[in-house]
Amino acid sequence: MTTRRKKPEDLRSARWYGIVGTRGFGHRSRTAQMGYTREDYQGKPVIAILNTWSDINPCHTHFKQRVEEVKRGVWQAGGFPVEMPALTLSEPFQKPTTMLYRNLLAMETEELLRSYPADGCVLMGGCDKTTPALLMGAVTMDLPTIFLPAGPMLRGDFRGGPLGSGSDVWKYWAELRAGKITEDDWQEIESGIARSPGHCMTMGTASTMTSAAEALGMTLAGAASIPAADSRHAQMATNTGKRIVGMVWEDLKPSDLLTAGSYDNAIATVLALSGSTNAAVHLIAMARRSGIPLTLDRFDALSRRTPVLANIRPSGKYLMEDFYYAGGLRALMGNLGDLIDVGQRTVEGRTIGEAIAGAKVWNDDVIRDRAHALVPDTGLAVLRGNAAEKHLLQHTGRAVVFRDYNDLAARIDDERLDVDETCVIVLQNAGPQGAPGMPEWGQLPLPKKVLAKGVRDMVRISDARMSGTSYGACVLHVAPESYVGGPLALVRDGDRITLDVPGRKLHLHVDDAELARRKAAWKAPAPRFDRGFGALYQQHIRQANDGCDFDFLEPVNPPGGDRHEPEIH
Ligand code: FES
Repeated sequence: MTTRRKKPEDLRSARWYGIVGTRGFGHRSRTAQMGYTREDYQGKPVIAILNTWSDINPCHTHFKQRVEEVKRGVWQAGGFPVEMPALTLSEPFQKPTTMLYRNLLAMETEELLRSYPADGCVLMGGCDKTTPALLMGAVTMDLPTIFLPAGPMLRGDFRGGPLGSGSDVWKYWAELRAGKITEDDWQEIESGIARSPGHCMTMGTASTMTSAAEALGMTLAGAASIPAADSRHAQMATNTGKRIVGMVWEDLKPSDLLTAGSYDNAIATVLALSGSTNAAVHLIAMARRSGIPLTLDRFDALSRRTPVLANIRPSGKYLMEDFYYAGGLRALMGNLGDLIDVGQRTVEGRTIGEAIAGAKVWNDDVIRDRAHALVPDTGLAVLRGNAAEKHLLQHTGRAVVFRDYNDLAARIDDERLDVDETCVIVLQNAGPQGAPGMPEWGQLPLPKKVLAKGVRDMVRISDARMSGTSYGACVLHVAPESYVGGPLALVRDGDRITLDVPGRKLHLHVDDAELARRKAAWKAPAPRFDRGFGALYQQHIRQANDGCDFDFLEPVNPPGGDRHEPEIH
């Protein structure tokens, strides 16, 4: 492979800075207004640094400092860094869910890169949806791009023991509701569970997607596992700034890196991490932006041969900090052996095989080898059927149906509710359009009277998503969703439902004639929005199995081919 080498006059930014006449004068005089001389930027790659920092995003509090480190790297390598704020998508605070706005950040990313003089970009993200959103936009724009993962926060602490984001919240909330811990204990947990910058440190969506970005070759080697508070994270930020400048001269773009093979690597890595089910939605959307028609079948096929090697909560025992000290993602990918296509390339200009070569496991309980896998396969199952603690993986029960989350919240703890632990709880209208935004409501709460018996898990079905930090026998992402008349809309109280994970089946025991009657009687609900972004979302959102992208954002041409460079006059 020959390395391309751009000349300064070939830079995209030369269209802004290199032109004679009043426009070029305007760009240069306004750059001077910001305190830069011509020597600072002339003939240099302009590096857009898209920073999702904000005062309301606790996972990105260190990005104010990290962006300075990225800039330092860019300057050192002879580039011109330009920081641009981008939508923050703060998982804990944005309602009803950040998923409603993932595509808005993807659009913003694409349009920022298109409309400003960027030659290459560094994407600063980590909190759940920021990673796929930034990457989706950058993949479409197809300028040289590196993703800078925020890094996980340190382990939580409660009386000398570790606490994990999300998973311990659900665990201790159930204990509090069952009267096993006190309100004071609960408050102590509240102050110790998130004690440093960084994203959730369990294998939730954030750790899953930043790891997927690394496996795709979109980060520096080893970047995704470094805790946010570790000085090596700051060093990685500087190195990211240095590398992006080289990528611009080499014209190394996402389309050079993202292939069906690299998406397979990302899926295998996510499965080996026992990563969040949200990865299925995001990776499908990202792959389709790359022009690769990824489907759920590929996840199912790879899940049948990929062992779970990472012993990380919520499905395992440890946290991301332990994972880093045990060798991190490079070591895990090394243990996957021939399940990784080592010939795929990375932002470093070398292969992923070279990037993970020599990685060592320092704690083989945290990062298992294939002979000692936590689960030999099937970390994730794609279920098919008329309704698209282990004993629940094959279970038949009576449906208890809630028409939306408010209905569930109002009735779930009602003593008169006809429910026991053998029932199947069904939540309707929680999907991409129904909720809207397909929130992480899928870990439905158990009825109080069932909890009081000491039961901690039941089969629960919805068209919602679930936080990757949650756990339990939850069937999620049912598509098409109930709000648009999908199979879940037809389930009634008392129907019998069979979940059969090994057989990949979810079956509603209602005959076809009765289902047809129910379907004919079903009425589409009124639209939720009549204006603004919500109306745009409602009109164009794809279903979960298609990645929840907007139909009009899917590529018409190969990535970069329909870039629509702005006219400059
Ligand atoms: Fe930001 Fe979990 S809240 S990653």
